[in-house]
Amino acid sequence: MIANTPEAASPAPFAHRMLTEIHQQPEVIAASIEHYAEQHQLRPEIWQPILAAFGNCSQILIAASGTSRHAGLVAERLLEELAGIAVDVEYASEYILQHAGSNPGAAVLVLSQSGETADTLAALSEAKRRGAATIAITNVAGSTMARLADAHLVTAAGPEQAIAATKSFTTQLTVLYLLALALGQYRGFLSSADVEQHLSGLADLPRLIQQALPGWQTAAETAAVNFLHARSFLFLGRGLSYPIAREAALKLKEVSYIPAEAYPTGELKHGPNALLGAGAPVVILAAADPANPSSFARYNKSLRLLEDIQPQHPHILAVGVAGDPNLPHLAAEILSIPAATEYLLPILEIVPLQLFSYWMAVQRGLNVDSPRNLQKAVTAE
Ligand code: BG6
Repeated sequence: MIANTPEAASPAPFAHRMLTEIHQQPEVIAASIEHYAEQHQLRPEIWQPILAAFGNCSQILIAASGTSRHAGLVAERLLEELAGIAVDVEYASEYILQHAGSNPGAAVLVLSQSGETADTLAALSEAKRRGAATIAITNVAGSTMARLADAHLVTAAGPEQAIAATKSFTTQLTVLYLLALALGQYRGFLSSADVEQHLSGLADLPRLIQQALPGWQTAAETAAVNFLHARSFLFLGRGLSYPIAREAALKLKEVSYIPAEAYPTGELKHGPNALLGAGAPVVILAAADPANPSSFARYNKSLRLLEDIQPQHPHILAVGVAGDPNLPHLAAEILSIPAATEYLLPILEIVPLQLFSYWMAVQRGLNVDSPRNLQKAVTAE
């Protein structure tokens, strides 16, 4: 059982709760991994009930809101690529309006850090009414969604007090990766050796984040000073990094009140390019796993796009792998992440961008822990 008490993640001497929770991520990601896997093997006692109920589902519909839905967009690719399961991701608030005949036979997975969000709870109730098998992934073991769903997986983020979701998001991504591995192995898409290799890489992730945090903290603060007067931002990402671009844009909006949009990088030339200009910088996710051909192909396309827009003199913040020789002449600021496999890059990319949003809000003198108009859980529909 994961402790969901304050001591679950050791407090740290930071100026704001959001910053404390960003720095707790190595510890709580490690705790999440330990709950579901040990010695690079998935814990059978944890996964057997889940697999018995959902292992043979051919389709999963994910319903969630806000940051949790961005975790769902990452899960869509993880479940399709690692387990061969077709996935649809729906805004929870839209799912309940969907025709009841849509996605027949699909299992429904709801994602919610609070486990109480009204729209997502309504989606879960509707899924049950339609007779769908349901799973909930929440950060609160005793939440309404945890109790209502047929099966429940808890993240080990511990209580998240800042309104802007940070550690609850990265522990959602961690548990979703583990779910994709478990389903992939059960369905014969992954061998035990494949799973062991993925888990070995995942086990190293907390250390990679812990080691990178001091440098990210400084680089994100410097970048925030250089982008302080931006009127709006455009976030770009491809593949698994597109949901991260979405999440980074939402973080910036939530805590700094600066308009921000996110697009698949390839969409820039189909309209959003008109937005580029002074005071409208671009944040591009340009990391790659060189051992993964499609990851590297996406990276090369992003480099070409960066080269193509140079004549527009855009102000660019790039997130890239440390030591990448191609980015310094294409971007004014770089947030460097450690080299890692494709499926770990989303978590490594979002942490420095969480810090960037934090510093943008602090530099603007805003209440970063309790932004205006927002609630930690929207429990009224
Ligand atoms: C909103 C928060 O109220 O609810 C978002 O401002 C959050 O940050 C969204 O992502 C969904 O919350 P939950 O608890 O369902 O993950």
